[in-house]
Amino acid sequence: MEKFVINGGKPLRGTVRISGAKNAAVAILPAVLLSDEPCIIENLPEISDVATLLDSLSILGAQVKLINKTTVQIDPRGAGSYVVSKEMAEGMRASSYFLGALLGRCGHAVVAPPGGCDFGVRPIDQHIKGFETLGAEVSIENGMVEAHASDLFGGSVYLDMVSVGATINIMLAAVKAKGLTVIENAAREPHIVDLANFLNSMGANIMGAGTNAIKIRGVEHLHGTSYSIIPDQIEAGTYMVAAAATKGDILIENVIPKHLESIIAKIIEIGATVTEYDESVRVTMKTRPKKCTIKTMPHPGFPTDMQPQFGVLLSIADGTSFITEGVWESRYRYLEQLAIMGADFKVDGKTAMITGVESLKPAPVKAVDLRAGAAVIIAGLMTKGETTVEQIQFIDRGYEHIAEKFTKLGADIKRVTVSDNAANTKMA
Ligand code: EPZ
Repeated sequence: MEKFVINGGKPLRGTVRISGAKNAAVAILPAVLLSDEPCIIENLPEISDVATLLDSLSILGAQVKLINKTTVQIDPRGAGSYVVSKEMAEGMRASSYFLGALLGRCGHAVVAPPGGCDFGVRPIDQHIKGFETLGAEVSIENGMVEAHASDLFGGSVYLDMVSVGATINIMLAAVKAKGLTVIENAAREPHIVDLANFLNSMGANIMGAGTNAIKIRGVEHLHGTSYSIIPDQIEAGTYMVAAAATKGDILIENVIPKHLESIIAKIIEIGATVTEYDESVRVTMKTRPKKCTIKTMPHPGFPTDMQPQFGVLLSIADGTSFITEGVWESRYRYLEQLAIMGADFKVDGKTAMITGVESLKPAPVKAVDLRAGAAVIIAGLMTKGETTVEQIQFIDRGYEHIAEKFTKLGADIKRVTVSDNAANTKMA
């Protein structure tokens, strides 16, 4: 067990380099199973979700070779298994992508229900609707999801709601199906476009990724490729918020500014100065954040994965702010942790009303999920005194070297091992 010990209250200043996008990497790695030849994937983030997926690919029989810390060569030709066990699947939501990838590869997939952050129910009914449209039979037996198709034929799928996972999974199953597949009401996130670009670099025929209608003409074979993952828009947004929350001045390098438009707009609205360059953005903040209203929506709306980080910023804003969570049924558990630090808020269904206080108080808090964990780190960094963050395994799932990157920006943050008895005492 580990925790972060933070001595906050210092403005963060300097340069931080953004890593490869987690939500692109976790879609592209299973997609390698669709190739008939080895693939080289570059700019992978060094996070535990990537490590878990690489282990799963090896267990399925693919050959995984680490070229360097962020580059792997994967040869899928030896992958004979189509079963993804509970142990392989439970840690993360993206394990569901093995359903589409294995269905597309060999017409059969048996995958344990995915894990991932707890935002209430996280169904896969739209994924299943897509697979069935392509001619697969899908059943849930002994707690495993089984998809089976002797042949896959293109079809038209209208998603009941915009779903990143369903868009990705249907794309994976359709890319070698016979004929044309159209996904209507498709998700438009940058990682959807990155997956489509990766598949097209292998010889797939996908048009319209990034719009709400994606057309996929099935092809017989996908050849090997060398592909570099896009930078992580949410990691970049997290450091933008940290700059604003600590009244700092941070140059965030290796970004695609176009992916950050809605986050930049909000950061400017709360009073920060943002300077955009070709592949970096600089965020400077001199005053207390202003209040604002946030509604999270599918891309290109304000990303739900930036909601907790902004909730922290607004907890010290001048005035009362409102957040409406438009994607998940409940994503406010991080506010319970902020309450321990003195935040003043009320939650009513999907809306949180946050009344800014001058400053939070340092305290022992927990990461309740990935982005909530990043949020409470920011809370500790912006608050004078010692804040500790436990359950940081959630943070390591999606943020590469977060303590090192913040330390380089002048933060006092240390990763500390919590001895079992101390942890047990705590539990008691
Ligand atoms: C992806 O989750 C991301 N995870 C999430 O990021 C992100 O919050 C989410 O997309 C929205 O952008 C990964 O990419 C690994 P959805 P996903 O399917 O695919 C409902 C992070 O912090 N829905 O777009 O699971 C669903 O309940 C993580 O990196 C159905 O009802 O999200 C939700 O209300 C957290 N049935 C909404 O749609 C379905 O079959 C959007 O979910 C599928 C989804």
